[in-house]
Amino acid sequence: MNQESDLPDVLIDSERIQQAVSGILSNAIKFTPKRVQNEDGSPKENKVSVTVSKSRFGIDIMMSDNGPGIPKDALNRIFKMGERAIADEVEGHGIGLAVHKAIILAHGGKISVESRGGPAPHS
Ligand SMILES: Nc1ncnc2c1ncn2[C@@H]1O[C@H](COP(=O)(O)OP(=O)(O)OP(=O)(O)O)[C@@H](O)[C@H]1O
Ligand SMILES: [Mg+2]
Repeated sequence: MNQESDLPDVLIDSERIQQAVSGILSNAIKFTPKRVQNEDGSPKENKVSVTVSKSRFGIDIMMSDNGPGIPKDALNRIFKMGERAIADEVEGHGIGLAVHKAIILAHGGKISVESRGGPAPHS
């Protein structure tokens, strides 16, 4: 976790923001497999990182993980109610991000996602 020392005070509904932040963080944890492997099959340390920094209008929270990623064609879809990126075995309903996005938008914020790739969708 990286956090700037002089963060501004921001007016938020703390319960709701906590719900959104912990939901996104728990996605990073649950979709990052316990044993991540390098391309040559050697074990790779799995990482989830959170960075909090000052932005023009408040604060930015950036979370990243080195799990499987999200296919490019699913990047917009995952913010819609009931949508999941791939039909995988990790438990979930595809509801979290739609709710987290609504909370962040209600605070005048923005949410976006980037991925280096992601697994091919199952047929
Ligand atoms: N960190 C991540 N790594 C890989 N895929 C992710 C990650 N975060 C989200 N996703 C993909 O986006 C989809 C939508 O996420 P969302 O949180 O809305 O649903 P969920 O976690 O499947 O279920 P729910 O949050 O409702 O229990 C996930 O099903 C998953 O396919
Ligand atoms: Mg979720």
